[in-house]
Amino acid sequence: MRAMVIDGFGDAGVLRWGDLPQPVPGPGEVLVRVVCAGVNPADWKTREGKLSAYIDYHFPFVLGFDLAGLVEAVGEGVEAFQPGDRVFGMSRQGQGLDGSYAEYCIAGAAFLAPLPPRWSFAQAAALPVAGTTAYGGIVDAGELGVGQSVLINGGAGGVGSIGIQVAKALGARVAVTCGADNQAYVRGLGADLAIDYRGGDLAGKVRAWAPGGVDLVLDAVGLDTLLPAALDIVAPGGRYVEIETLMSRASDELVAEAAKRDIRILSNMVAVARLPEHLKGLAALCAAGGVKPPAIEAMPLGDAAEAHRRVEAQHVRGKIILDVADHDAG
Ligand SMILES: NC(=O)c1ccc[n+]([C@@H]2O[C@H](COP(=O)([O-])OP(=O)(O)OC[C@H]3O[C@@H](n4cnc5c(N)ncnc54)[C@H](OP(=O)(O)O)[C@@H]3O)[C@@H](O)[C@H]2O)c1
Repeated sequence: MRAMVIDGFGDAGVLRWGDLPQPVPGPGEVLVRVVCAGVNPADWKTREGKLSAYIDYHFPFVLGFDLAGLVEAVGEGVEAFQPGDRVFGMSRQGQGLDGSYAEYCIAGAAFLAPLPPRWSFAQAAALPVAGTTAYGGIVDAGELGVGQSVLINGGAGGVGSIGIQVAKALGARVAVTCGADNQAYVRGLGADLAIDYRGGDLAGKVRAWAPGGVDLVLDAVGLDTLLPAALDIVAPGGRYVEIETLMSRASDELVAEAAKRDIRILSNMVAVARLPEHLKGLAALCAAGGVKPPAIEAMPLGDAAEAHRRVEAQHVRGKIILDVADHDAG
């Protein structure tokens, strides 16, 4: 099968076309004929070797967590899917196994869900990592409730685009940070307040909107974290969910000081074991119309290096998707 592979860690230039044997699904696994692969920040971080201290990789290696496509074959014990099913979900890149920048990819059955009705493969390929991170961070780790308020740091990206909609579907009030060019975009997704993060006095603007502070912060901007200001932004009894970029940026001192004020600072990773449940919850919300597709830019799989450069620059609106096969495949 044709795939974009890397032979070692490095810049985007290490991505090249390769020919690999078609994988065979083992027990509990599903072989998916990939139609679209989503591109995540984790893909370029993996490509650079930033996760190699924790994960054993083989080379040539196929990158790509996100996939949408058709079930080609199922392994022993898989009853939830059958060949021909339209699915979206996650590869096992996080375990050092080949990902979705390829014609075929193996996924664990628990990490796949049916394509939401009326969603295209490209739209569904935007969902797996970003959507489950948003859903897990807001619903599970964040415990956001009806009538509560949330600030999503990074509202225009992959996580933010889904997070805004998940929070609105829960009946919450939603504020986000984003650049000036993305204010209309995030409002279109349902944000009640859009704050230009370059405008200064973020905490003052949040408190003018939510006197006393917000019930939840979902921090999805990696290194530009709002953590230093957490105590000024979150209300007592509230939560600050940090979406980790490689490691937590929350110091023990800040976590302890927050606890004294009854503010809990925690990582979205506390809920990661329940990712299959997050995927199912998200799929149900999409099927019910509570979450609509984010902005999408599609590129051919052969342009994976250019897609990585765009994601690395950190200003993609919504998601970049790689077209792997003809969209009419299903
Ligand atoms: N640990 C995990 O499980 C996990 C899972 C998913 C993601 N992540 C991490 O979470 C972060 C976000 O992921 P993502 O997929 O949403 O990334 P993304 O789609 O690449 O995010 C791009 C967006 O970030 C916005 N942005 C950039 N700098 C900003 C700032 N200072 N303040 C507010 N917004 C800013 C940009 O908006 P403007 O163009 O308007 O600036 C752009 O729309 C990444 O660091 C990723 O690695 C971790």
